[in-house]
Amino acid sequence: MKSVCDFSKMKRKGQKISMVTCYDYTSACIVSQSDVDCILVGDSLAMTMHGHDSTVMAVPDMMALHTAAVKRGAPETFIVGDMPFLSYRKSLSESIAVAGALMQAGAQAVKLEGAAGNTELVTHLVQSGIPVMGHIGLTPQFVHQIGGYKVQGKSKECAARLKEEARALEEAGCFALVMECVPASLAEEITKAAGIATIGIGAGRGTDGQVLVWQDMLGLNTEFQPKFVRRYTNGAEIFTKALNDYVDDVQKGAFPADENCFWHRSVA
Ligand code: KIV
Repeated sequence: MKSVCDFSKMKRKGQKISMVTCYDYTSACIVSQSDVDCILVGDSLAMTMHGHDSTVMAVPDMMALHTAAVKRGAPETFIVGDMPFLSYRKSLSESIAVAGALMQAGAQAVKLEGAAGNTELVTHLVQSGIPVMGHIGLTPQFVHQIGGYKVQGKSKECAARLKEEARALEEAGCFALVMECVPASLAEEITKAAGIATIGIGAGRGTDGQVLVWQDMLGLNTEFQPKFVRRYTNGAEIFTKALNDYVDDVQKGAFPADENCFWHRSVA
């Protein structure tokens, strides 16, 4: 299994890191048979698995349940568990309890969004043995504050703020940093300046790695195809065809076939 040390090792060697979100046991079994470096049990599961319209609806119990299922499916894969909305903004002890629950559910690290007001917590978690991945740029838990899902860091001031956030999170002890929806040149600049690995989503090619959401990359989510997503298969089409083939077979009486049936042993 990879460890936090591998993230900086891979950065130093120029080996790109691949991360994918994963939320359930069966999918985790598939990831564990692939070459993907690490799994993010992202709070995006509030949307992709529970049908909510934002990640604001994710709660600690939900995150721990999904993390435990993923761990059972991919026991040898490095797992990052997302700290959900407000779970790290109430008090230090509540934040530690949530991070602890995710680690005990099977994560090897936690991720949290934003730098302002979080750096002390990051240091405390790291000093308590909990590796932390930062997340800057478009931070979906702030969707109502940002006013929608928009590219961040386009203006000089915003770019300067993101550079400062990256620096502060590294200084606080983060072992890696997700950058979401920021201009490619800015992400590359931050990556070059950072001593820790950066993982981009909608942040161009200049980061140390990439992360994609399971449903997006496998074409399971037909309504959502932003510019930064590449679909590696047409999952929804393939599954729909399989389901319709099954219905046809049932209607024709072609399923179950003899080999799918149990028979009495013939009596001599
Ligand atoms: O929750 C999530 O899926 C994420 C990724 C988009 C980075 O935070």
